[in-house]
Amino acid sequence: MWPFINIVIFFAAVVGHNIPACKAPSYRLNDGNHMPRFGFGTWLGLDKDELPIPVMDDSVQKAVELAIDAGYRHIDTASSYDDEDQVGRAVNRKIAEGAVKREDLYITTKLWNDKHAREAVVPALRESLHKLNLTYVDLYLIHFPVATKTKAYKPFVKIDYLETWQGMVEAKVLGLAKSIGVCNFNLTQMERLWTSSDVKPAVLQIETNLNIQQPELREYCHNNDIAVMGYTPFGSLFPSRARPDAPPPRVDDPSLQAIAQKYNKTVPQVVLRYLFELGVTPIPKSVTKSRIEGNLDIFNFQLDEFDRQHLQTYHSNYRVVDVKFFSESTYYPF
Ligand SMILES: NC(=O)c1ccc[n+]([C@@H]2O[C@H](COP(=O)([O-])OP(=O)(O)OC[C@H]3O[C@@H](n4cnc5c(N)ncnc54)[C@H](OP(=O)(O)O)[C@@H]3O)[C@@H](O)[C@H]2O)c1
Ligand SMILES: *[C@@H]1O[C@H](CO)[C@@H](O)[C@H](O)[C@H]1NC(C)=O
Ligand SMILES: *[C@@H]1O[C@H](CO)[C@@H](O)[C@H](O)[C@H]1NC(C)=O
Ligand SMILES: *[C@@H]1O[C@H](CO)[C@@H](O)[C@H](O)[C@H]1NC(C)=O
Repeated sequence: MWPFINIVIFFAAVVGHNIPACKAPSYRLNDGNHMPRFGFGTWLGLDKDELPIPVMDDSVQKAVELAIDAGYRHIDTASSYDDEDQVGRAVNRKIAEGAVKREDLYITTKLWNDKHAREAVVPALRESLHKLNLTYVDLYLIHFPVATKTKAYKPFVKIDYLETWQGMVEAKVLGLAKSIGVCNFNLTQMERLWTSSDVKPAVLQIETNLNIQQPELREYCHNNDIAVMGYTPFGSLFPSRARPDAPPPRVDDPSLQAIAQKYNKTVPQVVLRYLFELGVTPIPKSVTKSRIEGNLDIFNFQLDEFDRQHLQTYHSNYRVVDVKFFSESTYYPF
């Protein structure tokens, strides 16, 4: 089943319509809009104590400008990343310079857990749009199925995500978000959302990397025409980000290096290409120019079946983003 699905998705993506000056092919979502099949992450991440790394300077703005110059057209941010203002400044500067038009860009932001009440959704999106200095986003996502009273990780409140979804639909009807979707929903939650709503989610954004390849959710989404966006695409590949309990591989793994050498590519490029060929839209983050450019350079080679099968063997369902601090919520997905 797997290889067949992969091949179908691969051809659908490659034959798909192309956004001008965008190196990534694009994908037609179930609501008729198009999404570039490769994006740019802007989250600075968590420190060793699982606390968000504070945004201290304008490194995100600079990274987004470099990304647009390199050919990225799809940018992923969130209200909780505290960098929508920087993404907005970068995007508006590139538009003002004439480097891109607004309609060539695909901007995603996300609803945080403390705005899950139906009537809180549209005001939360308006606040994000104000920070982004934009009149609409291309995609608005529910960040987690979990609802909290404040911005902090606790206390939890019992707001059903089906109620939150009504607010998301209102945002779409108002044209503030061209498409709507969710992140971090599990299979049960996706099925429940799908069967209970007339307006279907267009995108599911989930952690997808060598250690967690998401076969069940990818198959579900494929069967229901939902695009899968893969966050934390490198997983535990880099020793600096790997917890002590993280399974292999690391970037210096000899078998990965041999594959990379065979295609004259780097190991990170091979990993991103593998995810792309699985039908996933990877959204790697970097604030380093050479990596920003290198990560996008995956559209001129194709892995063979032998290498794909080897890469599949690293799947162990191990998560980097396990959000254990949400585990007491009724809606904890993992
Ligand atoms: N919806 C959600 O719940 C959720 C959760 C997590 C992430 N996300 C989104 O997904 C994006 C990507 O995930 P992520 O940021 O967690 O992880 P990631 O993109 O897998 O990894 C980012 C890390 O890898 C490094 N890196 C990037 N390219 C590299 C390369 N070619 N060689 C060596 N190191 C490289 C970066 O370093 P430098 O930056 O220092 O170059 C950074 O430390 C986020 O930024 C965010 O937009 C969403
Ligand atoms: C917002 O974007 C517009 C261009 O669309 C620009 O003229 C204006 O200066 C920006 N405002 C801020 C506060 O950055
Ligand atoms: C290998 O890749 C590098 C970097 O992209 C490039 O400069 C070089 O020409 C490539 N070599 C071959 C043999 O294609
Ligand atoms: C999804 O999360 C819900 C809420 O915690 C849980 O009841 C359900 O069993 C989970 N389903 C899967 C497939 O993990």
